[in-house]
Amino acid sequence: MPDVLYINGRFTTTDERVLGVEDRGFQFGDAVYEVFKFLGGRPVFLPDHFRRLDRGLRDIDIRNPWTESTLASTVKELLRRTAFDHGIVYIQVSRGEGERAHFYPDDMKPTVIAYSRRFEFPDAAKKERGIRLITTGDQRWQLCCVKSVNLLANALAKKRAQRAGADEALLLDSGFVREGASSNFFAVRNGRLGTHPLDEHILAGIVRAHAIGLAIGAKIPVDELPLREAELFDMDEAFITSTTQGIMPVTELDGRIIGSSGRGEITARLQRLFDEEERRDAGV
Ligand code: PDD
Repeated sequence: MPDVLYINGRFTTTDERVLGVEDRGFQFGDAVYEVFKFLGGRPVFLPDHFRRLDRGLRDIDIRNPWTESTLASTVKELLRRTAFDHGIVYIQVSRGEGERAHFYPDDMKPTVIAYSRRFEFPDAAKKERGIRLITTGDQRWQLCCVKSVNLLANALAKKRAQRAGADEALLLDSGFVREGASSNFFAVRNGRLGTHPLDEHILAGIVRAHAIGLAIGAKIPVDELPLREAELFDMDEAFITSTTQGIMPVTELDGRIIGSSGRGEITARLQRLFDEEERRDAGV
């Protein structure tokens, strides 16, 4: 079944071939994207995703074709046309289509895409069971704060994880733990949460920000400091955060059990708080 697709001001479905071969998103990875969740037919944390998209476009010198309100109305119409009530929306804005050249004209018309897709979010059993991680080198570029579609290094790292029987790759760089290939990473030690600070080495995850806010609200101290590789051997709990996985416990790292095995107490608490916050935001 094709999905509902919005492109450059009109609605169609994903079985229509809509992109030109000289679109810069395709040839240069000259594009940014967002993935957000919808529940009960309503988007979750849409203003947060708009702000990150806006920042990313600014960082790579593309004019934002959307305002917060035109994005909201496009998404509303997209979800009205969508036959199911929960899933994800993928949005992409590329610099546009034009004769292939590294120098881009200043006045290109961005290519704008949004489509909704079914997605089975982790159920209660999976959220309790958690996932396995492997560590691997971070081979990405030096602007990981931009949610660019250049995801080759991420995809290769994730494939290495899959081949090793794991679910996610934890990216290490210069002796520091950066983030997952498609998630942010948190360690828990002596009742404190630790995660990488916001800088060019990681993506400013939306779930990351909510997890930190919820932890502070629950009087759990948070240290936004780069975690050293060696500290990975000394964690009581760990979890990753992402739009599709929410807060997901990490129970194994490179084949070693983390903490006292199984989902940690602080992780479970934050998971519950986060799930409530998501539902509240969607109004379901
Ligand atoms: N990925 N870091 C990276 C490298 C990511 O790709 C993602 C999300 C995150 C978490 O961000 P957020 O909490 O805003 O989802 C962190 C999305 C889901 C994806 O590429 O499908």
